[in-house]
Amino acid sequence: SWTMLNIVEEAVEAVRAQIGPEGRAICALSGGVDSAVAAAVVQRAIGDRLTCVFVDHGLLRKGEAEQVERDFVAATGVKLRVVDAADRFLKALDGVTDPEEKRKIIGREFIRVFEDEQRAIIADGPVDFLVQGTLYPDVVESGGGTGTANIKSHHNVGGLPDDLQFQLVEPLRALFKDEVRRAGEELGLPAAMVWRQPFPGPGLGIRIVGAVSRERLEILREADAIAREELSRAGLDREIWQCPVVLLADVRSVGVQGDGRTYGHPVVLRPVSSEDAMTADWSRVPYDVLARISTRITNEVREVNRVVLDVTSKPPGTIEWE
Ligand code: XMP
Repeated sequence: SWTMLNIVEEAVEAVRAQIGPEGRAICALSGGVDSAVAAAVVQRAIGDRLTCVFVDHGLLRKGEAEQVERDFVAATGVKLRVVDAADRFLKALDGVTDPEEKRKIIGREFIRVFEDEQRAIIADGPVDFLVQGTLYPDVVESGGGTGTANIKSHHNVGGLPDDLQFQLVEPLRALFKDEVRRAGEELGLPAAMVWRQPFPGPGLGIRIVGAVSRERLEILREADAIAREELSRAGLDREIWQCPVVLLADVRSVGVQGDGRTYGHPVVLRPVSSEDAMTADWSRVPYDVLARISTRITNEVREVNRVVLDVTSKPPGTIEWE
């Protein structure tokens, strides 16, 4: 729309003024809409003087890494460095079951990988600016100050070290989420990215109750992809705030398939409606949609023989299981 075009153009101009004619910037992409739109704005402003870094920690959902590496780059022309760090993250997470420990490890590894990339980028010349997808609600929650500390960085993989050598570039600081999505559309970003529901920085790592492994991630990724596909097909994307799919990796129950008994894992569907994730209610997803999800997951994902629905509000339940 005309106004959104103006908002985007103003943001581009402001970034150009802040960074100047020679300055270089870096930006970490998470796969989420905020960092993607922020990067796209800065790319319009300074082109190749922006380098984006995508740390693929191996904990994203099906298709999300490709969305960043292929579709986002094709749509924006952003200069991107991709780091396939799945092995490193899996090794660091090996045997870890405590949720906060998982978050700490994922955050720590992310910072280490990003710092290595940063050093490589700086080898080509100085970089003074760090781009972040801070939104207006983040600014308000964190007290309105500038600086590297924002509300996201304390529990997000996208949170970066308090590296005061950088000046922050925050082109979305005045925008609400729905405006960021419209700006993303205006900038021609892939629809799947623009409309992606909230997804935690530590990714599928905190949706496996139990230790994380490549095999378990693969099971969860398939089950999650089916649930997302069926919810979208039923037209429920805008109605549901988010729908974590959780693998109870240390639980097995008896099932039956054909002539034989199975001994497989349950997955939990956690569809919630919410305004801001502070409180939430479980979504009344129509039974026939739930039935399709259940049938498909148990047919198509061999290791899963049971699909259960979480009917807990928040509070007392959190949205995620970890
Ligand atoms: P809970 O589970 O606390 O989640 O009700 C509230 C919202 O926050 C997301 N969430 C996270 N996001 N890093 C994130 O970036 C995290 O460690 C994390 N834990 C929860 C969750 O998906 C929901 O939208």
